[in-house]
Amino acid sequence: MIDRLLQLRQATEEAVRKVNDIEALNEIKVKVLGRKGELTNLLRGLKDLSGESKVEAGKTANDIKNILENMIEEKASDIKTREMERKLLEERIDVSLPGLPLQTGGLHPISRVTREIQNIFIGMGFAVAEGPEIESDYYNFAALNVPKDHPARDMQDTFYISEDILLRTHTSPVQVRTMEKVAPQIPVKIIVPGKVYRKDDDATHSPMFNQVEGLVIDEHITFGDLKGTLMMFAHQIFGEDVKVRYRPSFFPFTEPSAEMDISCVICKGDGCRVCSHTGWLEILGAGMVHPQVLINGGYDPEKVSGFAFGMGIERIAMLKYGINDLRLFFDNDKRFLTQF
Ligand code: PHE
Repeated sequence: MIDRLLQLRQATEEAVRKVNDIEALNEIKVKVLGRKGELTNLLRGLKDLSGESKVEAGKTANDIKNILENMIEEKASDIKTREMERKLLEERIDVSLPGLPLQTGGLHPISRVTREIQNIFIGMGFAVAEGPEIESDYYNFAALNVPKDHPARDMQDTFYISEDILLRTHTSPVQVRTMEKVAPQIPVKIIVPGKVYRKDDDATHSPMFNQVEGLVIDEHITFGDLKGTLMMFAHQIFGEDVKVRYRPSFFPFTEPSAEMDISCVICKGDGCRVCSHTGWLEILGAGMVHPQVLINGGYDPEKVSGFAFGMGIERIAMLKYGINDLRLFFDNDKRFLTQF
């Protein structure tokens, strides 16, 4: 009896070790431990034994029953754990999927360049002033020495709201507006960024564009101050190696007047399409403030002198970033705008 019990134990242990799924394990359990199982059958034979051997066989049978039950239970939990692990692995969700990107705004290239220009002049002690975009004929033209029939008005034709009210064609009206406010105080040292309007529309001209005006009034201001200030500006915005030159020009509100060129930022002065093969690029108009304009603003031209300049911000931005069509600034195409 004990031999058969030990044999059964060995055979069952081997079978349990080999199975890999719950159904097969259950079959073994029923086959050995079930009501009609092999161990149960052996136990039934106990009643035919007697005395010592009955006690011994009974004890062995019970031990084996416990051992096998434990073993089967352990195996079952083993299989379940493995099954769970397999399932977890198979049904895993990738929670590391990146989220939707947050779109952050940025400054328009014109705003960027405006701020850069402002900062350069603020660094030289200038204050920032502003004036209205809807302007009177007086401040836009008359106060600047441009009477009604003056041919200089042709270059700056604009949008009229009435006979005497118009969209300003330049930031220069803020010159006399500022003088009227502060005269006869000196020094005056301002820059004026802002939108201006003209009747132009092509690849390098837009009916609305931005300018920065500059105005300095003090005792003993000379053309040398103008040159030094604007050369400093050119070096800071375009780089130390850029060259500067002045050509005589005409504006009714400055005398003498000049235009400032910089050496071409594309070809460095060798000549290319951008500079029309001259090696130079015009970037601003400037001059010594006309005595009549000083008088119109409330200053005595015998006591003070000044210089003024004006530049187009889009043009500076185009040269700085190598942009060939001004209209790109106003199309609001994100493919363009996100590049800055
Ligand atoms: N206002 C002039 C223009 O728009 C530029 C300028 C400003 C020239 C100041 C001289 C002095 O063309």
